[in-house]
Amino acid sequence: MQTQRFLISFVSLASFLINPRVCSPTCGFPAIFNFGDSNSDTGGLSAAFGQAPYPNGQTFFHSPSGRFSDGRLIVDFIAEELGLPYLNAFLDSIGSNFSHGANFATAGSTVRPPNTTISQSGVSPISLDVQLVQFSDFFTRSQLIRNRGGVFKQLLPRKEYFSQALYTFDIGQNDLTAGLKLNMTTDQIKAYIPDVLDQLSDAIRKVYMKGGRRFWIHNTAPIGCLPYVLDRFPVPASQIDSHGCAIPRNEIARYFNSELKTRVIGLRKELSKAAITYVDVYSIKLTLITQARKLGISNQTNNR
Ligand SMILES: *[C@@H]1O[C@H](CO)[C@@H](O)[C@H](O)[C@H]1NC(C)=O
Ligand SMILES: *[C@@H]1O[C@H](CO)[C@@H](O)[C@H](O)[C@H]1NC(C)=O
Ligand SMILES: *[C@@H]1O[C@H](CO)[C@@H](O)[C@H](O)[C@H]1NC(C)=O
Ligand SMILES: *[C@@H]1O[C@H](CO)[C@@H](O)[C@H](O)[C@H]1NC(C)=O
Repeated sequence: MQTQRFLISFVSLASFLINPRVCSPTCGFPAIFNFGDSNSDTGGLSAAFGQAPYPNGQTFFHSPSGRFSDGRLIVDFIAEELGLPYLNAFLDSIGSNFSHGANFATAGSTVRPPNTTISQSGVSPISLDVQLVQFSDFFTRSQLIRNRGGVFKQLLPRKEYFSQALYTFDIGQNDLTAGLKLNMTTDQIKAYIPDVLDQLSDAIRKVYMKGGRRFWIHNTAPIGCLPYVLDRFPVPASQIDSHGCAIPRNEIARYFNSELKTRVIGLRKELSKAAITYVDVYSIKLTLITQARKLGISNQTNNR
């Protein structure tokens, strides 16, 4: 039954992503503004700290594309299905066109400002608070520059797009692994999750204050199934489940997600003019991992 529910949520997101009629023309989002980490970075970290090397980009874009992926990211599929161009990174000054949105995500970003530099820990300095400062700057200056006319009118969004846009968030995963890097226990990590979610909620409020009304919030992945988490933060064999995932790490992710869901429900009441969608990416990714063979994306033998 559990599996079936996962499959249903996978199928419904997949059909949203694959079938344009599920959404357009009723949604009619003229722009997307995205905040996040490597799950949705389309060139931010690459612009600031050097291009993501091959094999990133090789399958779809045929060269490094600023994404930490060989192909497209979920945010790219969302853009495609809304009939919008792929998002350019706010930080990318080369050839960017922001007429239909901007991407503030950078790989390695956390919600909370990091206390370490990128060279020490690999954590991006562009945490969510910085992404919000950049959004605020973009909000104001895009209109000042657009009013100069000429090519700027084609490169920057119309003022009304800010209230009509889809605001997407996919961030928090690196806040959880930050605790693992510090050798914290599951309980110690759970103890700071409310602080992470307070700051994430504040970011949503700030966008609302600027007129944002449609929010699409991804929860966090089953981090206990991610190869790099299994490799860098190993657990005893007794804590590995039948799919090869680390049970205590997924417990942290599920706790984050249930608390995030509670925050979203609270924000729906507080920000009464907003539509806030909580997207269960955890279940979708867990399905892709545990049912990979059945779904035709792996022939590995460890899938049940
Ligand atoms: C960074 O240090 C400050 C001051 O000690 C603390 O309040 C904050 O929670 C720390 N941030 C992280 C991400 O650990
Ligand atoms: C920017 O992108 C929009 C939408 O794709 C397009 O209509 C416009 O011509 C582009 N601007 C420039 C200067 O290329
Ligand atoms: C975490 O534990 C590992 C293994 O015991 C150790 O090498 C590392 O220095 C510890 N890291 C911190 C930040 O305490
Ligand atoms: C999976 O498929 C690849 C390519 O067809 C093949 O090389 C590999 O041996 C297969 N692995 C297993 C575990 O069957």
